[in-house]
Amino acid sequence: IIMKVIVAENASELGKQAFKLLAEAVAGGAKTLGLATGSSPVELYQEIVASDLDFTDMTSINLDEYVGLAPDNVQSYHYFMQEHLFKFKPFKASYVPDGLAKDVQAECDRYNQLIKDNPIDLQVLGIGQNGHIAFNEPGTPFDSVTHEVDLTESTIQANSRFFDSIDEVPKSAICMGISNIMTAKEILLIAKGKNKAKAVKDMLEGPITEAVPASVLQKHPHVTVVLDQDAASLL
Ligand code: GLP
Repeated sequence: IIMKVIVAENASELGKQAFKLLAEAVAGGAKTLGLATGSSPVELYQEIVASDLDFTDMTSINLDEYVGLAPDNVQSYHYFMQEHLFKFKPFKASYVPDGLAKDVQAECDRYNQLIKDNPIDLQVLGIGQNGHIAFNEPGTPFDSVTHEVDLTESTIQANSRFFDSIDEVPKSAICMGISNIMTAKEILLIAKGKNKAKAVKDMLEGPITEAVPASVLQKHPHVTVVLDQDAASLL
């Protein structure tokens, strides 16, 4: 294993460890944070909210958003970020892809430009059960940039737990590409739970392959992986 791995006792410890790394990056002058949604970063955001960190001079850029969901839709990633972080810790500017964009390609182009203009100092990431990062599913080229992604059946299934019914889960998303993610100076990947153990093992110990999108991180010079015991159980 070439990436740095931290195994935390439990979810709250994991949040504290991840927070420590993020706070160090901020103290070191980080100006732009790449942020993620999902259950993985929730404890990290709780620690941030409870801290005295001040982001009012900083920029945030989120990884992805569902196509078709308005920012005030409770299932949207805009809403998630608002509720978990932004309403407590506002940034100077916060960017999330516009799920309602009429011209999705133009929105992807705008997003790529945003990332160029605001190089990401620290990118927070989760990992999908199939090794996806953001919504970059297995098979996504490593040189991909922001694009519209058709969600796989397994991701729709996994994310349906947040929706009233599986039919309500959007079928596509706007998502940073793998090469956008790799431009971040530092990456902090968080994974919790037994259902992530296989993906974590493949990411850290398997071959670098587009079949496991997260395996690309073996090529990044500054990644820290923070796990709970369950996610680390196959290492
Ligand atoms: C979704 C998100 C990913 C996230 C993954 C895992 O598909 N687009 O960014 O990492 O699911 O989610 P969770 O952290 O809830 O397990």
